[in-house]
Amino acid sequence: MATVFAIETSCDETAAAIVKNRQVCSNVVASQIKIHQPYGGVVPEVASRSHLEMLNQVVAQCLAQAHFTWAEIDGIAATCAPGLVGALLVGLTAAKSLAIVRQKPFVGVHHLEGHIYAAYLSEPDLQPPFLCLLVSGGHTSLIHVKDCGVYETVGQTRDDAAGEAFDKVARLLQLGYPGGPIVDKLAAMGNPQAFALPEGRISLPEGGYHPYDSSFSGLKTAVLQLVQKLKKERDNCDSEGSLRDAVINDIAASFQETVAKSLTKRAIACAVNLGLKTIAVGGGVAANSGLRQHLQAAAAKHDLRVLFPPLKYCTDNAAMIGCAAAEHLERGHISPLTLGANSRMSLGDVMELYHV
Ligand code: KG4
Ligand code: ZN
Repeated sequence: MATVFAIETSCDETAAAIVKNRQVCSNVVASQIKIHQPYGGVVPEVASRSHLEMLNQVVAQCLAQAHFTWAEIDGIAATCAPGLVGALLVGLTAAKSLAIVRQKPFVGVHHLEGHIYAAYLSEPDLQPPFLCLLVSGGHTSLIHVKDCGVYETVGQTRDDAAGEAFDKVARLLQLGYPGGPIVDKLAAMGNPQAFALPEGRISLPEGGYHPYDSSFSGLKTAVLQLVQKLKKERDNCDSEGSLRDAVINDIAASFQETVAKSLTKRAIACAVNLGLKTIAVGGGVAANSGLRQHLQAAAAKHDLRVLFPPLKYCTDNAAMIGCAAAEHLERGHISPLTLGANSRMSLGDVMELYHV
């Protein structure tokens, strides 16, 4: 049983955790959301600086919470790809330094593999193969999880990620950042059938549509055009010309319904066609109530199991990184200390991170 100290700094959460195999001993996350809020999105340089300011405290808090000493730690891990390079470098450099000073093996982790491993934290007996629906601000993927380090991305978005679409729609409705939780809340008060919005589909050269890939940029444009049209009709607006709350709620509900149905349709088709019995959902959009309802109902019809790990493991955290690293370490997968940060890296290439 490997015990790993892990750091995650790929975007806007400064996080550290201690994980003993699939069990979380401590998990600390310092969110930068408030720092980026005035800009309406993550500012990379600001994120790197904030990681630098926060990391020492987060590491100290993590060790204190678990009452662990370095002697009990078998390896040190950090997210090394994909993500914002400046942000990744902060956590990666800290982890490599700790590995040198404490004379421990170092394990670099692919961020998306971390999201997959969040499923094992909530269900320690889970065994591959299964399907992972990863829906976050940066990614929308359907991943066939075959074994530790063996992944096939079978479907993905061709443009905006699902979370990004929520954030962009919230911005055009002037609701604030991050948009997903706000749209979700307003959608609960609206009518999901109020407006028909187009589900983005990817045409295939041989005819028909790609069964698993998605597209959200057209949907976002359709919401923009809908807002412009509704604003021209006086009944929909208040005395200052802004859309009435009830109309905004209906737009939020209709948009959420379209995204949830689109993701559900693809995930179910994928699991059924590949003969996979479990769908594990990860990423911040896993919190979405529309997605939860649609996916759970459709899975029940097809006799599939859906896992929604606790939200603290769905959004960015270091526990999921530590969980992935512990399994790599047990298999003797160790990274060189020369490992660099990489803004892009395919999940299919994860084994390049290790000497095997
Ligand atoms: O996984 P995450 O914390 O960060 C990364 O992108 O890696 O995901 C953040 C994304 C944001 O786009 C946010 O708007 C979205 O997840 N999100 C939601 C909800 N909560 C967070 N989207 C829809 N409904 C929600 N309840
Ligand atoms: Zn993430």
